[in-house]
Amino acid sequence: MTTQQDRVFSGVQPSGNLTLGNYLGAIRNWVGLQKQYESIFCVVDMHAITVWQDPEELRRATREVAAGMLAAGIDPAESIIFNQSQVSGHAELAWIFNCVARLGWLNRMTQFKEKAGKNRERASAGLYVYPNLMAADILLYKATHVPVGEDQKQHLELTRDIAQKFNNDYGVDFFPEVEPLILGEATRVMSLRDGSKKMSKSDPSDMARINLTDDRETIAKKIRKARTDSDPLPSEPAGLENRPEARNLVTIYAALSDRCVADVLKDYGGQGFATFKSDLAALSVEVLGPITEEMKRLCEEKSYVDSILRDGAEKAATLAEPILENIKQIVGFLKP
Ligand code: TYM
Repeated sequence: MTTQQDRVFSGVQPSGNLTLGNYLGAIRNWVGLQKQYESIFCVVDMHAITVWQDPEELRRATREVAAGMLAAGIDPAESIIFNQSQVSGHAELAWIFNCVARLGWLNRMTQFKEKAGKNRERASAGLYVYPNLMAADILLYKATHVPVGEDQKQHLELTRDIAQKFNNDYGVDFFPEVEPLILGEATRVMSLRDGSKKMSKSDPSDMARINLTDDRETIAKKIRKARTDSDPLPSEPAGLENRPEARNLVTIYAALSDRCVADVLKDYGGQGFATFKSDLAALSVEVLGPITEEMKRLCEEKSYVDSILRDGAEKAATLAEPILENIKQIVGFLKP
């Protein structure tokens, strides 16, 4: 492998609200990583349109996700923040990867199966080749590290397969091996209404998730009303097995307080949920309150957010350009 500069890339879709899952599983980890690595964070608007998006709502959500990243502590002086559609290289490389990835690989993607549901025939072709665009996002910058929640693991394995097949097919040592960074206690935050389902921005019940747009009162209410069982909390992590709702809340507590689950259970083991929930509500409000308020403020500052995205896109395009030139040359595209 040629010497490769370490570089972080990650993305969030601007479809619906940012959730506590997005924050704990991804964005919060990015804040620490930007100090160690050259980092690129992308609002993936092209991924969002794989399912229908109202154009006005897409513009609003794109700014809101950017505002969320900034409010959470992504520093535009340190990292690149931009929206995907501003850098055309993503679409160009995705096409090349459409020709590298095999149908058999895409057929195994569980996220496509979940999102397309029973109505597979009516899903967009974009939804099917979604992971190829994701591979393009990462490899357009030859990124080496990708911090994500657990649900993106399979897509990153596909990214590695695409990179490897490209290198093999063309007899080059061009793309690096991408390393997923699945960090922290809360790599898979679950629904507050059903501990077997992932907390998701598309869940029909708003009570199932905490949105980064929720105010302090709403956050506290959702925690208080979160579903639990009737047993007391266990004293050891093993006691959380087969208790998905309890495990989820304890995991959220651990992540928000930067502790491990075992440590949290030392404080609450043997108790019922009343005190625990009230402490978790207070902790959530304490950690998320300043972020949600700053995010709301930034959402009013459209031209500031737009200027960050514009500058970021320029920087991203500068990094992408020579890499894409090389790729086109490897593939055999003539440029007289
Ligand atoms: P998206 O928009 O669904 O989610 C953004 C990030 O949040 C994480 N996440 C969660 N983590 C823990 N618990 C949850 N309940 C939870 N929900 C979401 C996701 O794992 C993700 O890290 N395909 C990606 C976006 C993307 C991307 C990329 C990511 C496009 N190109 C390139 C990395 C690199 C997605 O739909 O994420």
